[in-house]
Amino acid sequence: MNTYRIALLAGDGIGEEIMAEAVKILGIVSSRHAEIGFELIPAAFGASAWFSTGSCWPAETEELCDAADAILKGTIGLGHTESRQIPPDQSPEKGLLMMRRRYDTFANFRPVYLPGFLAHFSPLRPEIIGDGIDIMIIRELVGGLYFGEKEAGVNTQGLRYAREILEYDENQIHRIVLVAFETARKRRRKLHSIHKSNVLKSSMLWTDIVDEVSVDFPDVEVNHMLVDAAATHLCLRPTEFDVMVMENLFGDILSDQGGGILGSLGLMPSACLGPDKSYYEPSHGSAPDIAGKNIANPYSMIGSVAMMLEMSFGMDREAKNLWQAMQQVFAGGYSTPDISKPGSDITMVSTEEFGDRVVAELTKLPA
Ligand code: NAD
Ligand code: IPM
Ligand code: MN
Repeated sequence: MNTYRIALLAGDGIGEEIMAEAVKILGIVSSRHAEIGFELIPAAFGASAWFSTGSCWPAETEELCDAADAILKGTIGLGHTESRQIPPDQSPEKGLLMMRRRYDTFANFRPVYLPGFLAHFSPLRPEIIGDGIDIMIIRELVGGLYFGEKEAGVNTQGLRYAREILEYDENQIHRIVLVAFETARKRRRKLHSIHKSNVLKSSMLWTDIVDEVSVDFPDVEVNHMLVDAAATHLCLRPTEFDVMVMENLFGDILSDQGGGILGSLGLMPSACLGPDKSYYEPSHGSAPDIAGKNIANPYSMIGSVAMMLEMSFGMDREAKNLWQAMQQVFAGGYSTPDISKPGSDITMVSTEEFGDRVVAELTKLPA
């Protein structure tokens, strides 16, 4: 039997609730595959870890993650006012960036997917959704403004100021662009490189590298698109995108917009891949406004499990089954309340019931 060790970092807010559904799914998946076992090891992470241990990324969690085959993360962070309890340089978000840097998880895959039959989930008109949206946003995750040098203070004129550096070298850009081309080749062979090369030097370098790498991918259609125009295009013609690749901050913003055009951030899973270790997390945050109410949409978390099964454990078929099981739940007319719209005839279910329904659908599919 092949046993995979998975570090479970539930985190804060809705993290525990949606992680419970992921654990439920992993239990069913292992019962369907006698040859596979999962060793699930929970560990403290985020603000909850800070309150209990004094660190958002405690040493024991780091050790566990070092030894794990993959990391499954829930959500971290506090609401705006509560977040003041933790010094900014020890924040949960800092802890998350430390984890990303430690494992060099440079390639962040954020699928923006909505089949045509679920067009009513989206705030966009059905004719814009057409046969469905199927975009893979590939976000560079360990560079740019997030990791550049930072300072803040009072300048010589006595004014408070802040300064941070946006820096990429060609290797950092090359590796993520290569991942994007390879991904496009396995999909519809269309790549949009998103940038701001009309203003930013970093984007000029980015665009040069996209052109250089494209020479080895003559079968992939390349489109250069300015990030501001891309934001509009995502709303007006989302079906024209296949793979989109961009630097860290652009990817943070446009991937949340992806959740917006689908109808909920709860529909946004993700995979964060590094050379030796990968971790999986919803794209969204801890949703303090709905935490503890058993109403969060666990699709993003269960989708992250599907991505882990495929990308870390090579269980492609079971990953497909899991996606299909979730779509079947939606097809049956069930959803958590985030998707509801006045007048729609969706039957509202809780976080837990959504998970149970996914299990029931999964069980119907051959393993
Ligand atoms: P958020 O993503 O937590 O929530 C934005 C909105 O989306 C809220 O109305 C929320 O209820 C809704 N939402 C998000 N996920 C949902 C789900 N699964 N089901 C139903 N509704 C869902 O963003 P925010 O409120 O701006 O940030 C809250 C905290 O999360 C902050 O501390 C932020 O730093 C942190 N954060 C963490 C991560 C992460 O862990 N990777 C990502 C983004 C934000
Ligand atoms: C995300 C989050 C993080 C980011 C925060 C919590 C540091 O918004 O994963 O999208 O900005 O990358
Ligand atoms: Mn974000």
